[in-house]
Amino acid sequence: MSKRLAPRVNGLSYGGDYNPEQWPESVWAEDVALMREAGVTVVSLGIFAWAWLEPADGRYEFDRLDRLMDILHSGGVAVDLATATASPPAWFSVAHPESLPVDADGRTLTYGSRQAFCPSSTAYRRKALDLVEKLAERYKDHPALAMWHVHNEYACHNARCYCETSADAFRDWLRARYTGLDALNAAWGTAFWSQTYTDWAQVQPPRATVTSSNPTQLLDFRRFSSDAHLANFTAERDVLLRVSPDVPITTNLMAASCYELDYWQWAREMPVISNDHYVLAEHPTPPAAQTAYAADATRGLAGGGSWLLMEHSTSAVNWQPRNLAKAPGALLRESLGHVARGSEGAMFFQWRASRAGSEKWHSAMLPHAGTASKIWREVVALGGALGRLAEVEGSRVVAHVAILLDYSSGWAQEAPNQPSTDLHAFDEVKRWHAALWRAGIAADLVHPAADLSRYTAVLAPSLYLADDDAIANITGYSAAGGTLIVGPYSGLADRNDHIRPAPLPGAFHNLLGVRVEEHFPLPAGASVALDDGSSAAVWTEQLSVTEATVLASYLDGPVAGEPAITRFGEAWYLGTRLDDSSLQALLAAATGAPVTHHVPAQVEAVRRRHEGGNAYLFLLNHGDGPAVVDARGTDLLTGTAWTGPAEVPGRGVVVLREA
Ligand code: GAL
Repeated sequence: MSKRLAPRVNGLSYGGDYNPEQWPESVWAEDVALMREAGVTVVSLGIFAWAWLEPADGRYEFDRLDRLMDILHSGGVAVDLATATASPPAWFSVAHPESLPVDADGRTLTYGSRQAFCPSSTAYRRKALDLVEKLAERYKDHPALAMWHVHNEYACHNARCYCETSADAFRDWLRARYTGLDALNAAWGTAFWSQTYTDWAQVQPPRATVTSSNPTQLLDFRRFSSDAHLANFTAERDVLLRVSPDVPITTNLMAASCYELDYWQWAREMPVISNDHYVLAEHPTPPAAQTAYAADATRGLAGGGSWLLMEHSTSAVNWQPRNLAKAPGALLRESLGHVARGSEGAMFFQWRASRAGSEKWHSAMLPHAGTASKIWREVVALGGALGRLAEVEGSRVVAHVAILLDYSSGWAQEAPNQPSTDLHAFDEVKRWHAALWRAGIAADLVHPAADLSRYTAVLAPSLYLADDDAIANITGYSAAGGTLIVGPYSGLADRNDHIRPAPLPGAFHNLLGVRVEEHFPLPAGASVALDDGSSAAVWTEQLSVTEATVLASYLDGPVAGEPAITRFGEAWYLGTRLDDSSLQALLAAATGAPVTHHVPAQVEAVRRRHEGGNAYLFLLNHGDGPAVVDARGTDLLTGTAWTGPAEVPGRGVVVLREA
């Protein structure tokens, strides 16, 4: 049996952010009683409670938190205790105005919302660590304490700060990276546009200027900003490790929505990986595919192992243009969609809907309508379902396909002055993942320098910038016979975002047996047809083959008659952005990866497996009517033993312990 993610939680983690500071104490007992009714096993307590815990500088008031910890413990609810450092109190910001974040235009952003601090602020760090130390000392031995929840969604609102403190910290970071100004000038290519620096004091963050900033400066500033937030996390983590070494520690990431932090670097520093995910109700990608991406991306950060869904919503959120409520059954399918892909539970923002504040129209486990509501009934049902799924804990998803994701590459591609504004690295990664999802093929998201040897196929949807380690790794994988599929605009730049020498694509031309002569991005809305029946948009390029075979050529467009898709051994190159269905067909054929299970189109199948033990087939029916699946085993949710084909109710879920 593998090590449990949070050993003090009774079963899978089920609960949500609990913000009792918004309520009179008289409500707390009712909260705990209702948590029991819903089968809640753990809550994330006090995430935004800094001002409540330290109402004035150095005046800590923990008696109410003491009572809460006791009440929760006696109700059998474990606590994922927040360090409460995500939102500094007003007294702090007034005392330390230099800690307020400054945007690229030089505007100081004030307090009064949340997370209004500069990530490089020493005053913020000092006061945050004081609070963490006090909390750790006080609660380290409390029997309710199951996990530490550091901060909340680092960089959600204050990703990059351009103040003087940040400028100093950026210069220190650059000195450590480059040692001397000559190396910095070379890396940034400052000979261009007379940007050469002759004194460190001249170097600054990429503040607003008259036209495009230096792209490598932009890239390094994003790397620096990720590191600045990470240093705050590791500082808090280290206090917790020193004071309470045996308690698991996490911070909640946003693997499918935040591209401000290099989560691969973060994951290495995080004892427990957790993630927040909110579906975009009106997005062309269906909610289930969005869920699958978020979960697979998080599992990738967890190295394929256990992780926890720390937040999602029971129904509508409050920050989209139109906040669509979830249809009946969607809550169960979405929660179990995460569990199917490796989450050791399903947590929410938040337990009880807030009466006041910006999030009063955000759904909760206990909605404004109270317990006489669809949401509450589904919350209670989900608690029961998770209770019956306890035995899946510790089992793993096995995928045969890897999708490469690199933050620096995406950041470099987000700099202005690209050949087309219509090609987006992070979106392409999601689009390729969704194509596999529709084909029923399980995939892991991995770093380009990760061990790829266990995968049948590796996809590089968009790897504009590939550093030397990534190239060596990918080349080695391909040389060993693995199937590699590379998307357009890949392999062009080195780690400093300098274009690699000819022939293009510099990093991969040998591997792919092709040469790219010139890019021919398409006008907005234009598409091209290929002679294999597929169609494409956004991007074409003048491609010639050196050793590869041409699989498809353009029938029209600016490079009509030229190669569009090529193959050299097991290395495929797509010189264009295939439309969704063409991409799905190509990937399903080219990866050679098995589908998880043959199911009707409305059903999603995912398998978790204990090493050398039971396998669990999650069947999520996204259609309205029942579906029949050729599978056998015992449904953990109902106890039904299916000896013939299993029936999955419309909008429902079956989890088979496979025979
Ligand atoms: C998350 C955040 C929560 C809450 C939620 C609303 O980003 O961590 O505190 O604001 O969004 O959807």
